Amino acid sequence: MQTLYLNRYQTDKAAKILIKGGIVAVPTETVYGLAADAFNERAILKIFDAKGRPSDNPLIVHIADLKDIYKVVSDFPLKAKKLAEKFWPGPLTMILPKNQEIPFAVSAGMDCVAVRFPSNKIAQDIIKKAGVPLVMPSANLSGKPSATKFRHVCDDLNGKVDAIVDGGDCYVGIESTVVSLLEDVPCILRPGAITPDDLEKAVGKVKVDKTVYEKLKPGQKVLSPGIKYKHYAPNAQVFIVKGTREKYANFVNSKDNLSSVALCFDEDIPFIKIPYISYGSELKAEQQAYNLFDALRKADEMKAKTVYAHFKDSGGVSMAVYNRLIRAAGFQIIEL
Ligand code: TXA
Ligand code: MG
Repeated sequence: MQTLYLNRYQTDKAAKILIKGGIVAVPTETVYGLAADAFNERAILKIFDAKGRPSDNPLIVHIADLKDIYKVVSDFPLKAKKLAEKFWPGPLTMILPKNQEIPFAVSAGMDCVAVRFPSNKIAQDIIKKAGVPLVMPSANLSGKPSATKFRHVCDDLNGKVDAIVDGGDCYVGIESTVVSLLEDVPCILRPGAITPDDLEKAVGKVKVDKTVYEKLKPGQKVLSPGIKYKHYAPNAQVFIVKGTREKYANFVNSKDNLSSVALCFDEDIPFIKIPYISYGSELKAEQQAYNLFDALRKADEMKAKTVYAHFKDSGGVSMAVYNRLIRAAGFQIIEL
């Protein structure tokens, strides 16, 4: 397939391709998404094909006007309304009872659906011009780090999709917070830039699902099917390393400097003697979120066999950074 490259002003063209049943990679504020008409089952199957995505992993439906919410959901309870008022448009996805018109492939046969109103103006423009809600999983090959730059999308999906829209870099850098509103107490299934604290300020008590931190046990039932699969992993093997700067530096400096890469903080750099990539200040989780997927992809470009990722909880968005790192690392943690 010949992939068409579009600039941010060619949203008419992107929308036309989508209306005709094509698939188009689109920038959002979190990560790039791979879009299709949410009601066109054949177009949706093309997405699963292009990404190599397991068919039981449901998709998020994206809207660009709150008026369209009932095209997607059958119930929009008070807490959902409050969250929408506070955080939409923005990096929050809500799981709600689905409108029965939502195709099987979107919800993976479940009774619920994920819905998000992105803040990125290019994404909004394309959704509005397409005139239908769009499904958008992250625009990466299944299992690989998500794409936060135009170049990442081209690396993964060139020749597999109808078009890619260049919207520059995604400013959040990790995917939206996913919160289920199917029960009275909202439950976070995937942490993101909108933190548990942010949500609690808007709607009171929220829970964090155990799978956010813990490896699934064989056969364990999950609320979010995506959790079952390998995620965010570069070709290199990743280890999370916890410990002081001194211990971390001593540890990585003892490793083979031809095949190992230190994924470290800016503050670590003066002490590291092997090849390194910094993913931001240890005090700024937002910076780490912004750089994380690019850093994991860079490790592959550097032909790393092993990546040692220094992690420190700096509050706020740290939970979301850790959630991605621990999956990239296949839950392998070294405590120094
Ligand atoms: O920021 C984002 O959310 C990006 C941008 C493009 O909008 N999209 C994204 O989609 O991250 P994806 O498909 O890569 O991740 C969606 C996650 C998956 O873990 C999936 O299992 C979960 O949301 N999900 C989707 N529908 C669900 C549902 N009905 N119930 C529970 N989990 C659901
Ligand atoms: Mg994804």
